[in-house]
Amino acid sequence: MDQIIVTGNGELSGEIPIAGAKNACLALMPATLLSEEPLTLTNAPRLSDIQTMTQLLQSLGAEVTSLQGGQVLAMSSHDLTNHVAEYDIVRKMRASNLVLGPMLARLGHAVVSLPGGCAIGARPMDLHIRGLEALGAEIELRDGYLHAKAPQGLRGATVEFSFASVGATENVLMAATLARGTTVLKNAAREPEIVDLATCLRKMGAQIEGEGTSEITIEGVDRLSGATHPVVADRIELGTYMLAPAIAGGEVECLGGRLDLVGAFVEKLDAAGIDVEETERGLKVARRNGRIRAVDVTTEPFPGFPTDLQAQMMALLCTAEGTSVLEEKIFENRFMHAPELMRMGARIDVHGGTATVTGVEQLRGAPVMATDLRASVSLILAGLAAEGETVLSRVYHLDRGYEHLVRKLEGVGAKIERIKDQ
Ligand code: EPZ
Repeated sequence: MDQIIVTGNGELSGEIPIAGAKNACLALMPATLLSEEPLTLTNAPRLSDIQTMTQLLQSLGAEVTSLQGGQVLAMSSHDLTNHVAEYDIVRKMRASNLVLGPMLARLGHAVVSLPGGCAIGARPMDLHIRGLEALGAEIELRDGYLHAKAPQGLRGATVEFSFASVGATENVLMAATLARGTTVLKNAAREPEIVDLATCLRKMGAQIEGEGTSEITIEGVDRLSGATHPVVADRIELGTYMLAPAIAGGEVECLGGRLDLVGAFVEKLDAAGIDVEETERGLKVARRNGRIRAVDVTTEPFPGFPTDLQAQMMALLCTAEGTSVLEEKIFENRFMHAPELMRMGARIDVHGGTATVTGVEQLRGAPVMATDLRASVSLILAGLAAEGETVLSRVYHLDRGYEHLVRKLEGVGAKIERIKDQ
């Protein structure tokens, strides 16, 4: 397996282009299943998760063509030939479960494997199932697969989510676009990826109001047409690279970055003593004076502090002056990076969903292990500020969510290389 070696190399400077959002693209791609007409996505990220979704859609009979080096995805679901999303694909990537709602709405039936366990939490699908059942679907779990059918088609209903789940909101939103009548989603998730999905669906002829708020109203239509849609910028990739100059020092401009995507995160950077400035091309981040200040962070659904930036923020706070308390409120097991950061000399105390981080003057490089996507990139960030070499193994986790990471960081002066598996 490939490894990445990072050597602390002092201040960073330059610019990093931000790609299209993985988590938006993974919801936008299944939308092709809702229409017989072509859907084209531009500004698509080049990631292994996108390849997995491509494989899944192709297994259902959709055509997915990757153009312009992977940044354009031309898709068509004119002739769907299969309605079973196999375990072999779904187990690789949970977001595969986002084909359930669109297939059910378009075909009247769907069979989707349950994704199974995940490093960061149990991640059940009960909210997806209850939401689709409210629209009239009959769903049964058999042999690890969800068997869903709506022989008379779906009908509009009011769905109140007990938790503002991103995936459940996306699945039910897509299904509701072709349901007879009006659907109202209450306590819906408000993430920018959902706004992007609703914007694309509207271009396809869907009638949607309220995305970005906790109440979304959808008026079902008989059929949807095709569209071309640019994928929104990746706010998690953005936040990750904003932390690079914060932890290593220096100044970096993130091209395509938008403040409205990372509001709560920037508030914490500001409190920690990091300068963030909007520019014509994006966001400029600089650490000018001395050590980072300790700050407390609690992860919440958007517009709160994103759980997908918690690990990266922890890496920063390991070098702060003072003690920070991080509370992880979204996933029950999302501190796997803490023991690895402690191998680099960090001082972290984890109790349940709370981690207390006492800042140290200097981290030291060490061999460390990636456990999940965001945990792995937090170790890369820590390596940028550490004395000596950090050697990260299992980097396939990174490939799922960061395109050209080594090249992007090298471009701003980081000493980083990828060692191919011999
Ligand atoms: C999306 O996952 C993202 N993935 C995750 O990003 C992100 O961490 C998460 O939203 C929260 O922001 C994609 O968009 C592909 P949820 P999702 O449904 O949709 C519980 C990354 O690093 N829940 O909002 O799976 C669940 O267990 C990934 O890019 C239920 O209990 O998240 C969790 O504790 C990791 N029942 C919480 O809600 C359900 O039916 C949030 O889950 C659904 C969810």
